[in-house]
Amino acid sequence: GTPETRTPTGDTTGATPVSHGQRGTFLTTAQGTRLRDTDHSLKAGPRGPVLLQDHHLREKIMHFDHERIPERVVHARGAGAHGVFTAYGSAEPLTRAGFLKKGRKTKVFVRFSTVLGSRGSADAVRDTRGFATKFYTDEGTFDLVGNNMPVFFIQDAIKFPDIIHAAKWHPDREIPQAQSAHDTFWDFVSLHTEAQHHTIWNMSDRGIPRSYRMMEGFGVHTFRLVNDAGETVLVKFHWKPTLGVHSLTWEEAQLTNGVDPDFHRRDLYDAIEAGAFPEWELGLQAFPDTPEETFADIDLLDPTKLVPEELAPVQAVGKLVLNRVPTNFFAESEQVAFHLGHLPPGIDVTNDPLLQGRLFSYLDTQLTRLAGPNFGQIPINRPHAPVNDMLRDGFHQQAVHGGVAPYRPNSLDGGNPFEATGDGFVDVPVTVAEAPKIRANPVSFDDHFSQVRLFWLSMSPVEREHIINAYTFELGKCYEQAVKERQLRCLANIDPVLCAEVAAGLGLPVPEPTLPLADVAPSPALSQLGNRWPVD
Ligand code: HEM
Repeated sequence: GTPETRTPTGDTTGATPVSHGQRGTFLTTAQGTRLRDTDHSLKAGPRGPVLLQDHHLREKIMHFDHERIPERVVHARGAGAHGVFTAYGSAEPLTRAGFLKKGRKTKVFVRFSTVLGSRGSADAVRDTRGFATKFYTDEGTFDLVGNNMPVFFIQDAIKFPDIIHAAKWHPDREIPQAQSAHDTFWDFVSLHTEAQHHTIWNMSDRGIPRSYRMMEGFGVHTFRLVNDAGETVLVKFHWKPTLGVHSLTWEEAQLTNGVDPDFHRRDLYDAIEAGAFPEWELGLQAFPDTPEETFADIDLLDPTKLVPEELAPVQAVGKLVLNRVPTNFFAESEQVAFHLGHLPPGIDVTNDPLLQGRLFSYLDTQLTRLAGPNFGQIPINRPHAPVNDMLRDGFHQQAVHGGVAPYRPNSLDGGNPFEATGDGFVDVPVTVAEAPKIRANPVSFDDHFSQVRLFWLSMSPVEREHIINAYTFELGKCYEQAVKERQLRCLANIDPVLCAEVAAGLGLPVPEPTLPLADVAPSPALSQLGNRWPVD
């Protein structure tokens, strides 16, 4: 017979099941025995010691003692909401993914987060924001696990433990809680200068969003789409908020964190409950899938680089509306598990070395965070597509699988042969270059400053003032003068005015750039663009 699929409660709708522990009118033990009293332990007389035989007491306290699970190693602080994605159909020529076909509606769950702070840290801090979306498509789940900034600190996932060690709290005091205002952060980003691009985004107004509803989202990496004819394009994913992009000023953020540390989460849930549903358009920047994997001299495998929208316009392919607050924060926002490898047919990964490492990391961390290999069966993580896999047993197994031993083809498991269907996921057969095994980057990854300069040149005067103040404040928290001086040398490579202003704010001398300006100048295509942007 057909093995039972993994939907023990029969729930495939994604509606939050109010399940075990909350049925019936009477209060019970976990075994369903009706209780008369939950306020007094069983004692030898009113003044006597508590009896070991009091099972209700032990069950109640035992369970409470284990209510917490490990917080996420990064992005611990976050808030999720349910919604619906409706496709415009404009992506149909590029991908065979069914959920992007015209008019198709797909349920989603989105979790927004900060990166560095713990679960209880304040919302309105200067940090990158996570923007992770789970599309419950009928061809399998698609997770778009992005951030509100289009670039990342590092080019290779092997440095991720290092940047996070440097950016999170000092190991002796566990401070600072949620800010990049400390020595090891600045030490890292001034030594690993590929981090300078992401850092200037953090120091800009983008580092303090006004609301989750007013943030952009970016898949950051380049992905590969494949259509029905087997043709491929390279793409970057973008979320554009209908309300536009807005930030808090630094002063507003300080007040907000004091008055309401839950500001962003409250804003999200209040807006949904008031019927002011947050909305984003999903957009694509599409590039020809050439062997060089570059566009306008920009290496598309380098996650510290963006492609300016003036060079590759973002084409809208659908709309996301968040319309339902979770029923239970723990069950949904805390237990949701995203993964870049959750891809439906029509979307594939590229060789971006940051992306490749992430493909390992999320599954691995969730194995600990959600205690065992069956977290895909937790209601919020269940696909809405039918599941018929060969995974068995393990901690917290919920399914009662039928059939004989799970291997395919299987002549003994009557009527259930393995059939590879034409609708199945096919890895795009990209040719892998014949090359020596080597721990190295492509040469193009060595350009760490030209896009940082481009970003600075594109800012208005008031935005530049905010950036100068942010660098000055955050670097001002460092104890090590050598670290401040090294970061000032990085700023000298970005722009002389930026460097001089921050140096003056810190009371330090203005260093010489370590690179000639010609080396950090944007490429010809980009410098034309820089000139078109407002430069005072
Ligand atoms: C969590 C985004 C790079 C490891 C997250 C989350 C987001 C995110 C949005 C929160 C997911 C949630 O809400 O549950 C990104 C982006 C990256 C990036 C956009 C770069 C483009 C990396 C890298 C690694 C990594 C390079 C490791 C090699 C993790 C881990 C978690 C996480 C371990 C916690 C996941 C969990 O406990 O469920 N990331 N990340 N990330 N990220 Fe990343």
